Amino acid sequence: MYTLALETSCDETSAAVIEDGRHIRSNIISTQVPIHRKFGGVVPEIASRQHIEYVMPIIKEALDTAKVSLDDIDHIGVTYGPGLVGALLVGVAAAKAISFAADKPLVGVNHMEGHIFANFLSHPELEPPFLALVVSGGHTQLVQINDYNSFKLMGQTRDDAAGEAFDKIARVMGYPYPGGPQIEKLAKDGNPDAIEFPKALHERHNFEFSFSGLKSAVLNYLHTQEQRGESYNAADVAASFQKTVVETLVEKTMDAASYSKAKKIVLAGGVSANGCLSDAMQEACEKKGYAFYRPDPILCTDNGAMIGCRAYYMAQAGRFADLTLNAKPALPITGE
Ligand code: KG4
Ligand code: ZN
Repeated sequence: MYTLALETSCDETSAAVIEDGRHIRSNIISTQVPIHRKFGGVVPEIASRQHIEYVMPIIKEALDTAKVSLDDIDHIGVTYGPGLVGALLVGVAAAKAISFAADKPLVGVNHMEGHIFANFLSHPELEPPFLALVVSGGHTQLVQINDYNSFKLMGQTRDDAAGEAFDKIARVMGYPYPGGPQIEKLAKDGNPDAIEFPKALHERHNFEFSFSGLKSAVLNYLHTQEQRGESYNAADVAASFQKTVVETLVEKTMDAASYSKAKKIVLAGGVSANGCLSDAMQEACEKKGYAFYRPDPILCTDNGAMIGCRAYYMAQAGRFADLTLNAKPALPITGE
């Protein structure tokens, strides 16, 4: 069975062909990061225009690389939310057009569910149930994955996402978008205990997150140093900030794991590329006897393959969409 999948929710245009749900035949990703970098973040209108230009050539490349034709494809999966509305619409329109013209069933995929399913591509042995921590540029969520089509959201961020905090702090410190990898690199030379930043909502069994207070505390620290005419050690700021985020994510995940009696912990989303986070999560899991999984680096950030994997399991459950499928910028996790 072959799935053709499209992903255009933010600043990556991607198409993939997946065989039998878990085997990547092709995963073509065209990133717009260099285009948005000069603006310090993603410009939605530019993102939509770039998707329009790239979506058809990327689909063709995905089919060619997989050495399959459209005739071989069994169904088409596409991200329809959450994300930037104009960007999502490009993928949804392309998928609907192909579905109609080639008479192939359509599957509407939730981007965050796709991030979690990236783990099934990297770990052939992984099966539900497990607890997933999804950390991306737009979301921070703890999700119980009970089965391939049964999920329960345990908690999410009330304000900024973890990746957003990385990006904003990096920008103020003068580093280019996306800030996460820049902060991680900088933090390697810093002292994580140099500055104490606050942790929010750290009471037991509180599975919500809040990173806006931490972000403001870091920005205040930088401004205060500047106003006093004093320099700051950028590596120490990066390391101390990163440590606070990582500790918060690990503590809440461990609390949620014991609360939900999970035995396996799965990391997902762009921020799961962070080595400090995955090392700390792995160590915490080893102490508690939980198995730990995260996607291969290329599958941590946005890609079509993860959407294809999610689409396959939806198709198995008969969860197809019709041609009224529309972009849903604030789509919640739905799989219950
Ligand atoms: O999942 P993703 O590719 O896009 C969204 O769906 O948002 O995540 C992008 C986010 C950005 O905020 C980026 O700074 C962050 O993931 N990120 C990282 C790292 N690599 C990417 N954050 C921390 N450390 C990293 N190594
Ligand atoms: Zn994403």
